[in-house]
This record gives sequence, C-alpha cells and structure tokens, in this order.
Amino acid sequence: MDVKPFNLSSIMSIHPVTQAAMRSFDKASDPRLTEVMSLLVKHLHAFVTESQLTKEEWMQGLEFLTQSAAITDADRNEFSLLSDVLGISSIVDVVSQPVGGTSSSVLGPFHSQDSRWMDNGANLAGDQDGVRAWLHGRVLDVQGQPIAHAELDFWQNADNGLYPAQDPGQDPYNLRCKIKCEADGSFNLLTIRPNPYTVPTDGPVGALLVTSQRSVWRPAHYHVIVSAPGYVGLVTELFPQDSEYIDNDTVFGVREGLIVPFTPCQNTDVAERYGLTQPFLEVNFDFHLVKAP
Ligand code: BEZ
Ligand code: FE
Repeated sequence: MDVKPFNLSSIMSIHPVTQAAMRSFDKASDPRLTEVMSLLVKHLHAFVTESQLTKEEWMQGLEFLTQSAAITDADRNEFSLLSDVLGISSIVDVVSQPVGGTSSSVLGPFHSQDSRWMDNGANLAGDQDGVRAWLHGRVLDVQGQPIAHAELDFWQNADNGLYPAQDPGQDPYNLRCKIKCEADGSFNLLTIRPNPYTVPTDGPVGALLVTSQRSVWRPAHYHVIVSAPGYVGLVTELFPQDSEYIDNDTVFGVREGLIVPFTPCQNTDVAERYGLTQPFLEVNFDFHLVKAP
C-alpha cells in the first residue's frame, strides 16, 4: 500500500491557536461545513501572520465591515460589491464553472427576477437614445448541437450608463426581457449598444477603491442568463471588444471568450423589420451549455 510521508513541518508551523480554531469545526453536522470553515480559519490566520497585522489595522477592518452592514439593505448589498471588487465573485465563478461551455461571469446587483417575457425578435430599443444593436445567435450544447427552446434572461444599462434601479426616469422594465429561443436554438432581439458604468461609490467599498487609486469602472456589457432543462444554467456577460475599460474591469468579470465585435450591419431585412433608418450594429454570439450531471 502507498503510504504518504507525514509532513511534520507543515503541521508544526501551524500555531496552536490556529490549530484549535480549525478543529473547533470538527463536529459540524455537515462535513463540508467542517472543511470550508477550517480552511477559512487556516487562511485568515495565515493572512494575519504573514501581514503581521496590527490591532489597529484589525479594528479598522472591523469598522469597514460595520459600515458595510449599515449601508446594506434589500436593494443594496455592500458585501456583494466587496466580493466583486476583491475578485472573489469571479474566482468562485471560475472554480465552479463546468468544463467545455461558454464562460460564466458576474451576476451583478441589477438583475430583476420579474423581467417580462417577450417574443423572440423583440425590440427593446423603442425610441430611446443609443446606437441600435441587433443581437442574435444560438444556444447550443458543447458538441455544437442546438438546444431547443432554451430561455434567455437579458438586461443592460441605458445610453446614460444607468440601470433602471439607479434612474427614476427609466421604466423598471427598460432594456430587459426574457425570451424563449426557437426549436433550432436561435434567438434575436434589437437593443442598443451598452455603455461603461461605475460601480456604486457612495459606500465604504467605493472609498476603498478611491483610497487605493483603483478604477471604479466596468467596461460596457450585456448580462445574459441562459437556461434549458437538463443543462447547467449559465450566468454570463458579453463585452464589446472596443469598450473602454475592457482591460481594467474593477470586478474582474471579463473573460477572453466573452469579448465580442459589434460590427456595422447591412442586413436590409433587419433594418426593415425594425424600421431602422440610421446605421446599426450587429452582435452574433452562440452560447454553449454543459449537460447537467
Ligand atoms: C454590474 O454589472 O452592473 C455590476 C457588477 C458587479 C458590481 C457592480 C455592478
Ligand atoms: Fe452590469
């Protein structure tokens, strides 16, 4: 039998306080809770030790969390924003992503559960400002076969860079919809080109970004949730390749496969269908879903 050598030095280097705090979760009813909490304690203690954190710094940290709690309510979650700007939301995405499908990306705070169902081909742009963009593509499996009648949940910001929740002048349902794709997996809709956007800066997380001389901007993006029975749901984003901040997203959501060209479109059928008289853009993207285990 293969016996692993006992790594004495790694055990010896863990302080008894850390060992005791890690082992305090041994009796949790769920073994996964034991594993996650003891590893969390281990790495937090390692952070304190390696940075030689002072008592004053730790009190500052607790004050930061207290301020975050004070500003958090049903509509505004400062802890979620903290997770985003520390890259934790993104790295959780990366480690939990099934192999082979379209990359996932952050959900963000502006998703709405009660978006309206619209017919495939919907016109979300109406008469609002913004360069018209025709978004179309298919929902496929990882072998490239169409997934019939997959569902899309789509949302984005308006030409002024704001989401409806930030802008009383916008209808709450503006530039968002749910669509059922066709039997061949295809979908299309008319919308506008999205715009770069700053994360909320009026709380402690914004203050941290400013003090750290970090950008508060996200590049322009569409948000899409793609789902179909029997497949792992996908929460993702599409980024115009020429967007400002594409290389410096403050929440680290950009993945190579999600950067797309917005190309000038000459399709007269599309122009006629939506009554477009100005030049417009085309975005063509296929989403690939992984079968549920
Ligand atoms: C957004 O996509 O709108 C967003 C994502 C993370 C944090 C803040 C905003
Ligand atoms: Fe967003």
